[in-house]
Amino acid sequence: MSFYQKIFAKFYDGFMHGFERKLYKKRKHLLSNLEGNVIGVGEGTGINFQFYPDGVNVHSVEPSIPMLDKAKIKAEGKSNITFYNKGINDQSLNTHFKEKSIDAVVCTLVLCTIPDPLQALQNFTRWLKPSGKLIIMEHIHASKQVNKKIQNFINPAWKVFGEGCHLNRNTDDLIKEAGFEPIEEEYFNHTLRFYSGVFQLPQNS
Ligand SMILES: C[S@@+](CC[C@H](N)C(=O)[O-])C[C@H]1O[C@@H](n2cnc3c(N)ncnc32)[C@H](O)[C@@H]1O
Repeated sequence: MSFYQKIFAKFYDGFMHGFERKLYKKRKHLLSNLEGNVIGVGEGTGINFQFYPDGVNVHSVEPSIPMLDKAKIKAEGKSNITFYNKGINDQSLNTHFKEKSIDAVVCTLVLCTIPDPLQALQNFTRWLKPSGKLIIMEHIHASKQVNKKIQNFINPAWKVFGEGCHLNRNTDDLIKEAGFEPIEEEYFNHTLRFYSGVFQLPQNS
């Protein structure tokens, strides 16, 4: 565990406080109707736990021990959350998540950080039931060329400051490259551009 991981976990909620006023409604909209077996990817300090309905079985996958410690405090009194101290592309997760067994995968502010997001999305295509949903709320690359160039310039420093977070990923395109189709999708907050939505695999696949 690095010293910086500890610092990132300690200050994460405080740093996000202002943003969360905007994101709260989105999280609620995206998460409060989920059912069954849900994988929460990189759940950090556990901010999403308050939105999951009580009957949902949450499999919370988080590689950072300081984040996990904070999430466990938020999960106190909730018996429906199981923690996995692993990265989402860790092969050993296949022993826990069987093919076509998962009702929803939740990614909020995490595909910007995972080392290989396309591999993660490909794992989701295997684990999700045919009716399963991929839930997304991510910041992504800017739309204007000039802003993209600024993001590309800042990104190396940002990655250090943000524990591997990339400012400029084209997560909106990657989701579709992995084979998902939108049931609903939205671009919002055009200073740091966000993308959210609910996705499914093609029903004949
Ligand atoms: C910016 S935080 C987002 C936390 C939370 N999902 C939210 O919505 O606020 C990114 C999280 O992804 C986690 N993470 C980093 N690499 C990961 C990986 N390979 N698999 C799963 N989670 C990862 C980090 O430890 C961190 O907790």
